[in-house]
Amino acid sequence: MVEIVPSILSADFARLAEEISRVERGGAKMLHLDVMDGHFVPNLTIGPPVVESIRKATKLHLDVHLMIENAERYVVGFVEAGANSVSVHYESCRHLDATLGLIRNAGALAGIVLNPATPVSVLEDVLGVADYVLLMSVNPGFGGQKLIPYVLEKVRKLDRIRRERNLALPIEIDGGVHQENLAEVVRAGCDWIVTGSAVFHSPDPQATVLEMRQIAANATAVRV
Ligand code: DX5
Ligand code: ZN
Repeated sequence: MVEIVPSILSADFARLAEEISRVERGGAKMLHLDVMDGHFVPNLTIGPPVVESIRKATKLHLDVHLMIENAERYVVGFVEAGANSVSVHYESCRHLDATLGLIRNAGALAGIVLNPATPVSVLEDVLGVADYVLLMSVNPGFGGQKLIPYVLEKVRKLDRIRRERNLALPIEIDGGVHQENLAEVVRAGCDWIVTGSAVFHSPDPQATVLEMRQIAANATAVRV
């Protein structure tokens, strides 16, 4: 099942609950929360207290994407704050296996994120202990960037690997996805499609989510 996953990074933070209920009415089942620390990426966003408040405002699956150093110190706090899935960057995690274990033991799905330049091949041995993989289609840090085309080849590669190994492993993509490239992204093999500015900078986020879900459903029907 392909899901459109709105990223609140481009939402109006002063009216967050309202923004969230808009995408909920559009049919979104998951919400993407970007956590940035000003070290791993040159930007700062939210921490566990905001996730906790969002948890009280919605029943949607909260998908937390950690773009931070020392993620192992914080993952359990994010699960306790209400995250349903937490992903950590391969590039920032010295003890990736242990960190995935912390997330799972705390009761959430554990995801591995790869930056655009990190090859899918680094996942070879760890794939069996991840619940999903997030492939960044922009360099992390900011919303509103352009999708890097070669990442779609990485998606196809990972899709082949999961089929060969019979793994039920969702592939998530994040960055630069909008109505025009969405069908291609779905056909490449993505299941969870994060989209920030295309939704929250549109005049009607509810209608945009609905439209994107329709585009994704049509593209899924012709997925090879
Ligand atoms: C970028 C973030 C994304 C961001 C995507 O570092 O991880 O989740 O919100 O935004 P758009 O869809 O505008 O590229
Ligand atoms: Zn993200």
